This record gives sequence, C-alpha cells and structure tokens, in this order.
Amino acid sequence: MKTLDNLDLAGKRVFIRVDFNVPLDKQGNVKDDLRIRAVLPSIRKVLESGGKVVLASHLGRPKGKPVPEFSLKPVSDYLSKLLCLPVKLAPDCIGDEVRRMAAELGKGEILLLENLRFHAEEEKDDEAFSRELASLADVYVNDAFAVSHRAHASVHGITRFVPVCAAGYQMAKEIKYFNEAMETPAKPLAIIIGGAKVSTKIGVLEHLVSKADYLLIGGAMANTFLKAQGKEVGKSLVEDEHMETAARFLKKAAEQGVKVYLPVDAVVATSLESCGDVRQVSVDKVPPDVQILDVGSGTVEVFEKVLGNCPTIVWNGPLGAFEYPPFNKSTFALAEYLGKSKALTVIGGGDSAAAVKQAKVDDKVSYVSTGGGAFLEMMEGLKLPGIAALEACESRS
Ligand code: 3PG
Repeated sequence: MKTLDNLDLAGKRVFIRVDFNVPLDKQGNVKDDLRIRAVLPSIRKVLESGGKVVLASHLGRPKGKPVPEFSLKPVSDYLSKLLCLPVKLAPDCIGDEVRRMAAELGKGEILLLENLRFHAEEEKDDEAFSRELASLADVYVNDAFAVSHRAHASVHGITRFVPVCAAGYQMAKEIKYFNEAMETPAKPLAIIIGGAKVSTKIGVLEHLVSKADYLLIGGAMANTFLKAQGKEVGKSLVEDEHMETAARFLKKAAEQGVKVYLPVDAVVATSLESCGDVRQVSVDKVPPDVQILDVGSGTVEVFEKVLGNCPTIVWNGPLGAFEYPPFNKSTFALAEYLGKSKALTVIGGGDSAAAVKQAKVDDKVSYVSTGGGAFLEMMEGLKLPGIAALEACESRS
C-alpha cells in the first residue's frame, strides 16, 4: 500500500483522516492520548516535506448535529502542545469559511476541522459531503485505522474524489503488526480472548479457529462456555441463548485441532460491589448464589504455561471485571506477563489497551493497536471499508 513516503508533498494540502475519538474527563481534558501520539509521525512528515496539514476526525457520537461537549477544541489544544506548533481549529468541517481557511493555509501550517459527525452526512457516506471534504485536499491520507471499519464519508466516500490516496504511518504500522501476528505468525500462535459477551465475539472465534493453535478464553464470555459444558455458574453473566453456539464452537475447534483453554478456577462474589465475600473457587464448585467476576490464579498459571511455548501472542479483551478491583488481578497479571514475554505480543481492543497501560507495560509489549471495533473486525477476517477504499483509490490512480 502506498504511504506518505511515496508521495510528493511539497506545497500540497494533505487531508489526514485521523481518529481523535479519545476519552475526555469532565473538565474536557484528554485522558488517554495514544491515538493522538500515534499520528504525530504522519503530521511531522507532511510538515517536514513542505506540505500543509488538514486534519479531520470524529469525536463521540453527536448524532449528526453540533454538540459543544463533542467539539475537538480540547484535542486541538492538546495536539498543539505536543507538536509545539499552533493548530487552528476550523468552526466546522465543510462550508465557505472552512474552504477559505484550507485555501489560505501556508506551508507547515495545521488546520483541524471540527467534528465530522456534527453532520449526519458523514455517517451516511454521503456523496456531496464526501466531495466537499475532498475539495479541501490535494492528497488524502487515511491514518485512522481505528475508524476504518466504518464506511463513512471521510474514510470511504472521499477516496473517490481525491486525486491521490495513501495510508498514513500509523495505518501502515497497524496493518504490519496485524499481519505479522495473524497472517504470517511464527508458530504456535496463541490468542487470548476475553470480554463480556460470546455474542459479540463469536464471528471472531469462528474465524480464529483457522488461525490459532491455542485459544485462551476468559472474561464473562467464558461463563457461557462453562455452562455449555454443564458446569454450575451461579448468578454469573451468561448468554443462555448462545450456549448452543458455544458448544458448537468447542466441537469445531476440537475437530480442527485447536486447543481451547477455559478457566479452571474463578474469583467469585455476590456482586461487583461486595468486598467481604470475595473468594476463589474451582469452576467445578461455583456456589449457586455468587457471580464469577474474574478468572482465578490457577487459570492464569495455566494460561502462562501455554503462552510460554508461543512466539506469537495476540490479546483482545480483559479476563475479568478489571475496572472493579479486586476483580482486575488476572487481567493485570496477564498484562505483566506479556510485558516480560519475548514473544511478538500484539494487544488490541480498548479494554486490553487500557489494561496494559494501567499495568505500565504498554511500552514493553510489541504493539498496542489503537483500534477497538476495527481490530476486532480484522480478527474476524473482514476487510475494513477504509482499507478497501484506499486500495481501490490506489488502483485507479
Ligand atoms: C472507536 O473508538 O472505536 C472509533 O473511533 C470508532 O468510533 P465509533 O464506534 O463511534 O464509530
């Protein structure tokens, strides 16, 4: 795929689609800047090459109208501090004033458009809106892997109306690590899947059966598998309607020679808020009046033993209710283990990325993806519309 390195950027207005959909605190301060830092290399490259930068992003889900709390103002201030450069914030992302600001942009200057989702046309992949965005650019760059599973105007439609398209450095990095871990991995490949629901990950699991050697399942979704095996799971979160799917999946995995590891023990309590009655039990002895809220230390040991034999490890989804200590222990233990591992360790999904950051190993694992839904769709074997659009644009030019 063409990247910024293959383009003549001098004097060009380079429209970079970024994903600045970052968490803000109540005061509007950026709480996690992973996605902002991730695109600095692309921005710097355009500036150093004598180009002009037009940045575009969404923030939150304002449902097609301007909502002040979803303004990108805090992000423009934050970015400006990171770059030590002024970043102008446009009052909108389309319209006469924005077109004027983009036209007057000088070499080495940066303009950030206001939230794309203040217009319903963005999510509708509207042609006229895509053309308006395209009119701001000589070159289009997609550096927003995390939103590339959305066929939205700034990710998809716009690529039909710009003369040149390319992937940004962050996008290229995401694809490189994903392919290294999932498409051409050093074997055996272990994939750890956690999170709350089987229903949201069954497509992923089914695809992974053709990729992974070992599948390690944790989080509340493991409860449905345990119940499907006839185990008592008390008052735990279970998707009864997906028990059959879980049983079918286990059968398919066994047929294909993929070893699936489910929890062998669990940390249980009467509720997330309880502190007095937290205890660890075998998955064969879960009392009827408790919930499983984390996998136990025995499970972590089993998982670590399996991972110890694997040169490639991919992790998506926490092993327990990690936002609620003490039910964060296994997730943090796993994060710490991955931080020390010599394997290629690729982490994807908002919660797992947050866990490695909180465990302070985000700079020790091989790669933390900026993608949540996008990473999951890649794991499911789907082609992301944003990536497909870039490829189509390249083949036209
Ligand atoms: C994300 O945070 O996963 C992306 O920015 C996409 O956001 P969305 O789920 O609101 O489309």
